[in-house]
Parts: sequence; structure tokens; C-alpha cells
Amino acid sequence: MPMARIRFAQADGSEITLESFGGSLMEAARAAGVRGIEGQCGGVASCGTCHVYVDAAWLEAVGPASAAELDMLEFEPATTHASRLSCQIAVTSALDGLKVTVANG
Ligand code: FES
Repeated sequence: MPMARIRFAQADGSEITLESFGGSLMEAARAAGVRGIEGQCGGVASCGTCHVYVDAAWLEAVGPASAAELDMLEFEPATTHASRLSCQIAVTSALDGLKVTVANG
């Protein structure tokens, strides 16, 4: 049984739903080949290539970005209040149904 189903949308409106069995959101996206989620730094919040926007309905459940994330997101061109680094989001069953939009798709 997957731990959570996650919807990844692109700016063009296309969307895929993937199943995560744990780990980070970035890892789940890479395993599913989500366009625009590269994870170049391997998931240590230092590259910004896993930038996503958390859907408004999910901001509270996902929680705020850490200080290290905010430091990195400052360098991203299109950071908003909904920005998170997907490598820093641990997938749990509480995030089943989560929707995010890829920032750099
Ligand atoms: S994978 Fe590099 S910041 Fe997330």
C-alpha cells in the first residue's frame, strides 16, 4: 500500500498523480519522472531544483519552510509564500491527496 498519493501539476495545467511509499517528495517525484524536479543536490536543500508550490489547501498540513530552505529559496526567481523545496518534505500518510505545482517545469 502506498503511503500517500500526490498530485504534481505543471504550469501548463497538466498533472500526474504518483504514489509515494515514504521518503521525500522530491524522491517520489524523481522516481516517477516528474518534469522539472531534478534534485541535483541529492536532497540537502542546496540547489533549488526541486522547488514546488504547495496548494493553498495543503499549506497548513505541509508546514512552513525551514530556515535552511528559506535561505535557498531566496535565490530562486519565482519564490512565493507557498514555495517549498520538495526534498525537505517528508511524505507521510497525513499528506495523502497533497497537490503541488512544479516551479521550474
Ligand atoms: S534537491 Fe536540491 S534543494 Fe531539494
